[in-house]
Amino acid sequence: MVFNCLKIVRSASWRIENFLIMLIQVNNLTKNYASGEVVTPVLNGLTFSIDQGEFVAIMGPSGSGKSTLMHILGLLDRPSGGQYYLEDKDVTELSDDELAGLRNRKIGFVFQAFNLLPRTTVLENVMLPLAYAKNREAPERRAKKILASVGLDHRLNYFTNQISGGEKQRVAIARALVNEPAVIFADEPTGNLDSKSGVQIMEILQGLNDSGNTIVLVTHETYTSEHAKRIIKVKDGLIIDDYKVGQRRIAKDGEILK
Ligand SMILES: Nc1ncnc2c1ncn2[C@@H]1O[C@H](COP(=O)(O)OP(=O)(O)O)[C@@H](O)[C@H]1O
Ligand SMILES: [Mg+2]
Repeated sequence: MVFNCLKIVRSASWRIENFLIMLIQVNNLTKNYASGEVVTPVLNGLTFSIDQGEFVAIMGPSGSGKSTLMHILGLLDRPSGGQYYLEDKDVTELSDDELAGLRNRKIGFVFQAFNLLPRTTVLENVMLPLAYAKNREAPERRAKKILASVGLDHRLNYFTNQISGGEKQRVAIARALVNEPAVIFADEPTGNLDSKSGVQIMEILQGLNDSGNTIVLVTHETYTSEHAKRIIKVKDGLIIDDYKVGQRRIAKDGEILK
């Protein structure tokens, strides 16, 4: 506990010197799943912070608790213990409705299985989150602009079962972006894709981060994690390493420059 506090104080002064703004702070975060008498501990006390503008990979083997952590950070689930501050707000205090509102405004998700609505067009999928938000721009115009930015202006009226996996994931990225979230969580976003489409997705994520978006990428692959700028390694629900990527992989024009 004392060690954690010291760590937080030290990192706070480092951030002030470097004019960084903390987006996410978790202290001693835990999660257990209970089923009848059996309690399964999944997250065993995680302490870290993520600043605005970072590109972080949460990396670890299958079953290590990455998706559980991402669901908590993304306000889809609640921790069993510990603190979670999102933009300095203690989110463990919020009601379900407040959490849902905050999630819609602040968080964009990209999942391995795309999670698009079936029997719905590309454009409609991306317009959907705008129905719940205050828009400065007309929803259709905004959705079209975002879809153009991920190279899908020629697919607007296709149904989601009529496009390729790589295109589906680009729709999911556009949907995640459309409300200008404070952070984008991408859980194994290349896991269902061929390698060429995977590179395109990493290129888009890196481009988004270059233009200031905060990205948290969840992956079990070292190779994929090295597209990020920082890697938080988890194992058995604990952080076993947290470091800056020395030689980053850069995806550019459909290729990896490394
Ligand atoms: N709803 C749940 N109920 C019970 N156990 C779960 C549930 N969700 C995940 N788990 C367990 O938690 C552990 C971590 O899962 P997960 O966070 O999905 O890991 P990862 O994404 O790293 O593969 C696994 O052992 C998994 O079986
Ligand atoms: Mg997972």
